[in-house]
Amino acid sequence: MGKLDDKIAIITGAASGLGEACAKLFADEGARVVIADIQDDAGKALADELGGLYVHTDVTIPKEVEALVQAAVDQYGRIDIMMNNAGIDGEQAPTPQSTLENWNRVMDVNMNGVYYGMKYVLPVMIEACSGVILNTASTVGLNAMGALPAYSASKAGVIHLTKSVAIENAGWRIRANAICPSVVKTPLLEHFIANSPDPEQTQRGFESLNPLPGMVTPEAVARAALFLVSDDSEFISGVALPIDGGYTAR
Ligand SMILES: NC(=O)c1ccc[n+]([C@@H]2O[C@H](COP(=O)([O-])OP(=O)(O)OC[C@H]3O[C@@H](n4cnc5c(N)ncnc54)[C@H](O)[C@@H]3O)[C@@H](O)[C@H]2O)c1
Repeated sequence: MGKLDDKIAIITGAASGLGEACAKLFADEGARVVIADIQDDAGKALADELGGLYVHTDVTIPKEVEALVQAAVDQYGRIDIMMNNAGIDGEQAPTPQSTLENWNRVMDVNMNGVYYGMKYVLPVMIEACSGVILNTASTVGLNAMGALPAYSASKAGVIHLTKSVAIENAGWRIRANAICPSVVKTPLLEHFIANSPDPEQTQRGFESLNPLPGMVTPEAVARAALFLVSDDSEFISGVALPIDGGYTAR
């Protein structure tokens, strides 16, 4: 018996990093996973490995997100879990030097993409009177970082979007939560470190960021995500759960 037997789970940004780790664990726990990403080769390979479905989806394009939801319904008849996880770090620059292109792009992927995911999946869940939404925010959405205005604002926005949806849809037994990992070794973090003014110092700083020794792993994030999408958290909704070894306790 898996914790997600026969559940249908869409995960955006699942071709890599945290989304990939969640897809693997959710499938191990019995879910049928719908992998949504713009990295078609990696996304298809993972869907084949897990016996799931791959749907090319750019989360910044509302019609593609709407089509993703429809593809999942066409294939499986319902959607139990929607994990809006796709995200980018963008540029690192203080606000006056930051570019409008970066602001718009980061908000588009990280915040608008989450909004589209919820907007298009909610009618399906409302009709079924059940469903679980999990959005990937960040500790940066709780404690902002300097020289990262768009990413910080987008992740804070995701947390409040999640809470709004949790309140609004509770009457249909739909839950919505956010996870807030601190720093996890994924391609996104490697990109962030490489683009920082002093990559070696940034790497060392990240390694000692959390009070608990070591860095958060994608698997640890996936296990927390599993808790929030499974019935183990049946009465938890509207939370932004730090997965950060105590970082935000400071
Ligand atoms: N790695 C960390 O330290 C960390 C910490 C906190 C939060 N997060 C968040 O976790 C989420 C996953 O990041 P990750 O670290 O696994 O990074 P990653 O780069 O490994 O994975 C991100 C995935 O999102 C996909 N993606 C990017 N733009 C997209 C778009 N427009 N449409 C669809 N898919 C798109 C990428 O192709 C990739 O597969 C992001 O929202 C990120 O902000 C990451």
